[in-house]
Amino acid sequence: MDNHITTYNQLNPAAEARVDALLAQMTLAEKVGQLVQTNPFGPFDRDHYDAQKQTAEENGEPFEYFPKLRHDMEDLLRAGGVGSFLNVTLPKAINHCQRLAVEESRLGIPIMVGSDVIHGYRTIFPIPLAEASTWNPELLEKASRVAAEEASAVGVDWIFAPMVDVARDPRWGRIAEGAGEDPFLGMAMARARVRGFQTTHLASGRRIAACPKHYVGYGAAEAGRDYNTTDFSERTLRDVYLPPFKAAFDAGAGSVMSAFNEISSVPATANPLILRTILRDEWQWPGVVLSDYEAVKELIPHGLAADLREAARLSLLAGLDIEMISDGYHNHLAELVESGEVPLELVDEAVRRVLRLKIAVGLFEKPYVDESLAPKLILRPDFRELALDVAHESMVLLKNDNDLLPLSPQARLAVIGPLANNHKDMLGCWSLHTHPEDVETVLEGLSVYLPDEAWTYVPACPIREDGPLDIAAAVAAAQDADVVLLVLGESADMSGEGHSRTDLGLPGRQQEVVDAVAATGKPIVCVLMSGRPLVIPQLASQADALLCAWHAGIRAGRAVADILFGTVNPSGKLTASWPRSMGQIPTYYSHKNTGRPASEAGTKQFAESFKSVYIDAPNSPLFPFGYGLSYTRFAYSDLHIVQPELGLDDTLTVTATVTNAGERAGAEVVQLYVRDLVGSVTRPVKELKGFQKITLQPGEKRTVSFAVPVSELGFTGLDMRYVVEPGDFKVWIGPDSTSGLEGSFHIKKA
Ligand code: BGC
Repeated sequence: MDNHITTYNQLNPAAEARVDALLAQMTLAEKVGQLVQTNPFGPFDRDHYDAQKQTAEENGEPFEYFPKLRHDMEDLLRAGGVGSFLNVTLPKAINHCQRLAVEESRLGIPIMVGSDVIHGYRTIFPIPLAEASTWNPELLEKASRVAAEEASAVGVDWIFAPMVDVARDPRWGRIAEGAGEDPFLGMAMARARVRGFQTTHLASGRRIAACPKHYVGYGAAEAGRDYNTTDFSERTLRDVYLPPFKAAFDAGAGSVMSAFNEISSVPATANPLILRTILRDEWQWPGVVLSDYEAVKELIPHGLAADLREAARLSLLAGLDIEMISDGYHNHLAELVESGEVPLELVDEAVRRVLRLKIAVGLFEKPYVDESLAPKLILRPDFRELALDVAHESMVLLKNDNDLLPLSPQARLAVIGPLANNHKDMLGCWSLHTHPEDVETVLEGLSVYLPDEAWTYVPACPIREDGPLDIAAAVAAAQDADVVLLVLGESADMSGEGHSRTDLGLPGRQQEVVDAVAATGKPIVCVLMSGRPLVIPQLASQADALLCAWHAGIRAGRAVADILFGTVNPSGKLTASWPRSMGQIPTYYSHKNTGRPASEAGTKQFAESFKSVYIDAPNSPLFPFGYGLSYTRFAYSDLHIVQPELGLDDTLTVTATVTNAGERAGAEVVQLYVRDLVGSVTRPVKELKGFQKITLQPGEKRTVSFAVPVSELGFTGLDMRYVVEPGDFKVWIGPDSTSGLEGSFHIKKA
């Protein structure tokens, strides 16, 4: 892989001089323009659309709608009144607007084009939660690079990803967009994605800047309801929510998107603690802060600002550089400066950061996109191949009683369920333009392995609506088969932004189908597709084998079939716990012990009184963080702590032997966890501090070695500063967050 990564987190003296020269020439209005991000198009115009379509048809050309520009857009661009665009992916339109900015505005400052490319642009990969389940950052780096190639070819130079919000509540639909519940894993994935997006040698000859989001704590939405209020301690902010952002910046990200939520009662978009104190004073980070969609305007319903003018003032003063979509800066910022309510120096600083990014991306040298490139590049065969690799590694085998999987190609199958012959939902919650025709369904995947007469298909019910329900056909098909293959789960629009749920069981009437099919007594394999952890204790007990396939992108069906028939041995592991019941939420492995811990995280603990337990269910999740099975078995032995007494500057080295004790080659994600037993503040019962994905042939064993600098075993202390405290620690190496070999080590006083 190409290792040239562009970084946007360092100052470059030549670029600074260029920024100075530009700033010195800019009027206040031009400065404000750089802080405005908008959509250049006007409202949808049916006649305009129809006319374009007709012309394309008459000329025999592929139809690509080019919406009408907003009536004021050309003048605005000529006046330098716009700095960037949101979600414009039409090279022709981008070049047209860019020409006005570059050739017809006074200073010729190019516009930047930002877009949501969350799990691929046109080559749609599995949703990010699934991608994280690969535990394979190198693979995600490659996938991000493909996304950057395609996005760059349509004129995008700024990708509004990675979404690095730690999410511990699966009701929150946006859990689909991130890496799950853990900050350490989130850091690894954040770094990989930033590197992948910011690879230098893209086919377009242009560059991409990543924009990690949503800064910060958005995943803590109360009760999992999107956009809801959040309330967490500054320690949790620093130890859980901030680290993936810091990792993204250290990997070279030069921009960040502020979140919709509040932090300690001040919405992120106008929050000086996170935007100024942490980003600038503590981290000395020189990047650009962009608001989320209309988040400046939303300070009004938040109750922080009485009107848009005040919202603009509070945001700029707090350290927000660019306003997305709403017009607070456009309408009021110049006047706020003139009245002395906002110091010009702060506006200059914001503009400086924007220009710095534009220079670093290379926009001044290469403002235009080659309009002929995208059709040649998009969905290239090697991109589709990579989407298949990621889909394979993202799927998590949750159960496989009696080694029911892999299936024998001789078995007669009854394929039942609404997601087996489905294209569009495989695309998941974030594909900017929907192209269901790009998708391989599960039925198409199966047909690679089985002749048509070897299986029957019964959809049985819709995904989420009440009816129609065809239980009789499902039961008849099951009775006629050797094995039932259920393909069930959520539709793509049941997760993602604004799509939170209160009931995470199988939607619609799918459980009724399962119950009827289970009553036939036939062996059941269930392929479960979703944008989040589901709450499926009943299904999990009814199915003999359960494969979590997520919304796996354009190669979903092929990837499912390859796993079902054993061409590929599953290796994904969960990155967010799957609760047993809705009432357990939030459930995450890295919880605190409390003063009254349950004596056993097993299934009998609810009998204990006056302990931190439920009276009607265990504390433990149905499937824990880090969990996932394989068609082979891995045995762990010989934990060895090289130096059990460590100084603060030392590195903890722990090794263990992992043996493939089964009969197939397979990949295992070996995980290292620690626990700091006593601290000046309470510490989680376990924290992931290392992982390695290794492939072993049958019978092969490997000594896996982890090196964790002691400096990485710290936390935010009583004084809100990062500290590593001497004392006793436990360490585990194992296959998931609930099992493994255990040892101890000690950190000595300095
Ligand atoms: C989302 C962001 C996204 C933005 C622009 C917002 O509603 O929260 O994740 O980048 O829209 O599309």
